[in-house]
Amino acid sequence: MTVAEFIPEPYPDVLPKGQVTWQAPSNIALVKYWGKKENQIPANPSISFTLDSCRTTTSLSFQKKEKLDGFFDFELLFENEKKKSFRPKIEQFFKRIEEYLPFLRNYRFLIDTSNSFPHSSGIASSASGMSALALCLMSLERSLVPGMTEAFFIKKASFLARLGSGSACRSIEGELVVWGSHENINGSSDLFGTRYAGEIHSNFKNYQDSILLVDKGEKKVSSTVGHELMNGHPFAGSRFEQAHENIDKLREILETGDLDAFTKLVESEALTLHAMMMTGQPYFLLMKPHTLEIINRIMDFRNSTGLHPCFTLDAGANVHVLYPEKEKEEVRKFITDELAQFCQNGQYIHDQLGKGAKEVS
Ligand code: DP6
Repeated sequence: MTVAEFIPEPYPDVLPKGQVTWQAPSNIALVKYWGKKENQIPANPSISFTLDSCRTTTSLSFQKKEKLDGFFDFELLFENEKKKSFRPKIEQFFKRIEEYLPFLRNYRFLIDTSNSFPHSSGIASSASGMSALALCLMSLERSLVPGMTEAFFIKKASFLARLGSGSACRSIEGELVVWGSHENINGSSDLFGTRYAGEIHSNFKNYQDSILLVDKGEKKVSSTVGHELMNGHPFAGSRFEQAHENIDKLREILETGDLDAFTKLVESEALTLHAMMMTGQPYFLLMKPHTLEIINRIMDFRNSTGLHPCFTLDAGANVHVLYPEKEKEEVRKFITDELAQFCQNGQYIHDQLGKGAKEVS
């Protein structure tokens, strides 16, 4: 599949106006995307769990312009307020995708968006936000292109979401999504995410993710800058190779349900991600003292109980605690009793594996 397949034929129909709403989930990578090439092409393949309750809901209202003026015309509401600071990101997104959605300059849009998780919680909202918006735009395109298949709709939504934010392309479907071409995963692509179709052991059914909000502040270094620092990074080559190998290892773990091996792989991926940040030039550090305190306590708890919570991290200080559903009660008690004290304002969010985005009527 090449990008040419996402460029539509001239639309036979014109849709004067309408409104669509989509809810898209956040996702948490097990094997991380860190480093990219031009046009949002990942430097290595990644795989993620799709979450369930951490979601962005976006409504897109559109009205055909009477006079075509050649501009992108949109207004943006975030949690019912005009949000100027988001405009450049949307403008850039529209520029990147207009070749694939040539109607973009012909409509006036109102984008009304809100998150299920607390505002400025430090949870990456670009993944759920960009995928929700991409899905809304695809709904509009589907009305213009009769006979579009569901499979193409999903694929193109992921393709577009990727151009908004790389990890967003993994937020369309559930429960595990691969993005980036991997020689042993049929159909995997650098251009869009695909649902992981391999065998998955029942240990991973309804896998839990509790997100501990350690630091809700603005990130000192954005993901985009972080990705750039992988260009010329002294360990980049071996890191990218390792990600390919880790996906192979994870495939086996998912099949056998080996939770100890899962822990080793997922925690090592998280620490490697942060090690890349700490060993680049310029180097930077996103973990906080409480991040480390939580990590140490999770390791101790595992050793003393034989249970299987493991941690992973995004490009920030928050900690995702992953654990099997059957250990939910004990692990949640441990979170409340021991880990909540290290969260900002004691805040954490319990989530679990989800099935992907849905249209809201
Ligand atoms: C650490 O997808 O936020 O969460 O493509 O520049 O928008 P851009 O980056 P983004 O990077 C996410 C990086 C990560 C790992 C991951 O989700 O795989």
